[in-house]
This record gives sequence, structure tokens and C-alpha cells, in this order.
Amino acid sequence: MIIGISRETFPSEKRVALTPESVKSLFDKDFEVMVESGAGKFSGFSDEMYRENNARIVNKRTQVFNEADIMLQVRGAGANPEKADSDIKLMKGGQILVGLLNPFAAPSLIERIAGKRVTAFAMELIPRISKAQSMDVLSSMATIAGYKSILIAASELPKMFPLLMTAAGTIRPARVFVIGAGVAGLQAIATAKRLGAVVSAYDIRKDVKEQIESLGAKFIELKIERKEKTEEKGYAREMDAEFYEEQRKLLSKVVSENDVVITTAGVPGKKSPVLIDRYMIEKMKSGSVIVDVVAESGGNCEMTEAGRIINKDGVKIIGALNLPSLLPFNSSKLYSKNITNFIFHILKNGEIDRKDEITSSTMITFEGEITNSDLKKQL
Ligand code: NAI
Repeated sequence: MIIGISRETFPSEKRVALTPESVKSLFDKDFEVMVESGAGKFSGFSDEMYRENNARIVNKRTQVFNEADIMLQVRGAGANPEKADSDIKLMKGGQILVGLLNPFAAPSLIERIAGKRVTAFAMELIPRISKAQSMDVLSSMATIAGYKSILIAASELPKMFPLLMTAAGTIRPARVFVIGAGVAGLQAIATAKRLGAVVSAYDIRKDVKEQIESLGAKFIELKIERKEKTEEKGYAREMDAEFYEEQRKLLSKVVSENDVVITTAGVPGKKSPVLIDRYMIEKMKSGSVIVDVVAESGGNCEMTEAGRIINKDGVKIIGALNLPSLLPFNSSKLYSKNITNFIFHILKNGEIDRKDEITSSTMITFEGEITNSDLKKQL
């Protein structure tokens, strides 16, 4: 089977779907890989490196789409809505498309993919179960995002992170507060600790307390009256407006005592809850920094603007977008490894086993039909 890798076309996207190392492991299992020239350029992988690992380099994007049985992308369909259209025109019946496709953001594009009789797999739908861990693209990317969010905060903060005793006096360590201790949050905690900050964290799911403490951070517990089921399939559930209001009230003091706040509290498929409102920002010290990692899904901070830095009386609110693309070498390596494991998983003797849990959860189109029930409802 031929696997095709095209250049990413989303603005500022620097990742590539497959690294030369993964080309080798696919080649060893009898896959042929063709790569559009320059596809790995921004993540540090030259055409020559791909060639050395037996990939075929071609100059024309059309040729990749024409010959490939399987197209691997970082961003396709709803994850690249402005450019996806021209790629869909190049797709052919029977082809398999795998990538971050953000299907619920652009169901009409998925309808067109189905219309082309392409079988599509949306990598963001990988279930969070242990047997799918090696394919869990979202966790890989969130790890990178959590790390980078701290580096951004550290470079914007007018203070240093570590405690320093110098002949000119003592520098107090910066205080970092992380809201949401999932994959991104835990990596942010670990990174801030490595830089020497005093770190605390809060999550709606109390069972992460141990993980937070094992990283050397303090778990902040809020005495919220309303107790409800807070977890669903490894992710937080969406709570109601009163719950979030109570959270904001209790978080206000903690937020104002910190120099850096990293917010990662996302609820899959929903707008992110507002956990920091403008009144809380008014109470923060001038020079403080908020990095809102969930800016793309509305943000945890009322004043967040996706892709922008807002300055509110000296407090910087950073609406961070596409953080993994800022570290394209590592994020491509992780993405590539996840996606290669996924290909090996879904194809057994060249056939797709639709009954398999991981395969059926991620498949969104098959033989001209939309197979995802939520998408069908949306249409
Ligand atoms: P995750 O689901 O592992 O972690 C989110 C955490 O937030 C969970 O532990 C959850 O319990 C917590 N949470 C949800 N609602 C809360 C609330 N009201 N109060 C306190 N905690 C709450 O997700 P992961 O993988 O860590 O990703 C976090 C977010 O970062 C996602 O929304 C993801 O889309 C986003 N992300 C952003 C990137 C960027 O470039 N800006 C890159 C990668 C991920």
C-alpha cells in the first residue's frame, strides 16, 4: 500500500505527519511512502532524510493524492477549513484519510469527503483508554502545549522563576498556579517546578491530587457545595453555570496570589468554562501573566482573545494557539509515532476491522457514508 504525505497548508503549521524514522518502520512492514517535497522542512526533516529511509519524494501535491492509498495529514477537513476544499477535490474513491480533522467544526466538509467515497479517521476521536495510549495524538500534543505554556509565561513575566540567593539579596521564586491538571496541566506543573517556581494546581477531578503532589506541587482544594459526577470517560463533564460561578468566587483569592496562571480546563466538544473573569484579573498584581491554553475553545479567562496578547492594567492574558507547532521537531515525532501505531492497528492484512473499538471510534466516513452518529445528528 502507498502512504502519501503532503505539505501542511494551515497558516503557521510547522508539523509534518510522518518523520523519516516512521517511514522506515512503515517500509519494513511493506508500505511504500511518498512525500511531497519540502513537507518536513519546518520540522527539521529534509527530503534527503526521507529518501535515505526509502521514501519517494515527488514535487507535485496532485501526484501524492493521485497515487496514495492512504493520506496522512496533521490538519485536514475541519482542522484546516480554508484549505481543505482543494485537497478534497484531489481525493479519490477508496482512499483512506487519517489526521486531525476536527469533524464537528465543519460537518459539510466531512459530507464531501464521504461523497468522494473516502474512508476518513479523525485522530482527535481516539478513545482515552489504555490500549489506545500509543495512538493518543491529543495527549502527545497536550504534553508539548503544557511545556511550552510555561516557557511563554517565563519569558513574559518580569520576574525570574527560581529562588536565588545572591550577594545583592534574595530573589523570591515566582508563584505559578495551574488550573486543570490533565495532560497539559501536569506537564505545565512539571516544567514550572523544573524552573524553580512555587507551584500549585487545581482540578475539578479530585483524584488528580496525588499526581499533582507527586510532581512537588500543592493541590488546591475548593469547598464547592454542589457535588455532582464530574468525570466521563477520562475527561471532565460540563457543569452548570451556578457551579462555575461558585468556582470563580473560590478561585479569586488563589489567582490573585500568583504571578503566573496557566489555564488548561477543557471539556471535550464544549466551549471551555470561564473560570477567571475580569474582576479576578483586576485583583491580580501588575506584571502577572495568564497563559490560556484553551483559547481555541473559547478560553478559561473571560478576557482571552485567541491568538492575541491582551494587556489589562499590566496583567498579560495570552490566548495561546497551536502551541505544538512552536516545537515542530518533537511534536512531529510524537504525532508520527502515534499515527504509525494507528495505521498498524487499523489495518490487519490490509483490511479494516470496523468492529474494533479504536477503529470504530475514530472512523467518521466509510464507503460513501458518514459513520459517526454525533456527526449524523449534526447534519
Ligand atoms: P485533559 O482533559 O487531560 O485536561 C483538562 C483538565 O481540565 C481535566 O483534568 C479536567 O478535569 C479539568 N477541568 C475541566 N473543567 C474544569 C473546571 N471547571 N475546573 C477545574 N478543572 C477542570 O485535556 P488536555 O489533554 O490536558 O488538554 C487540555 C486542553 O488544552 C484541551 O482543551 C486541549 O484542546 C487544549 N490544547 C491546546 C493546545 C494549544 O496549542 N493551545 C494544544 C493542545 C491542547
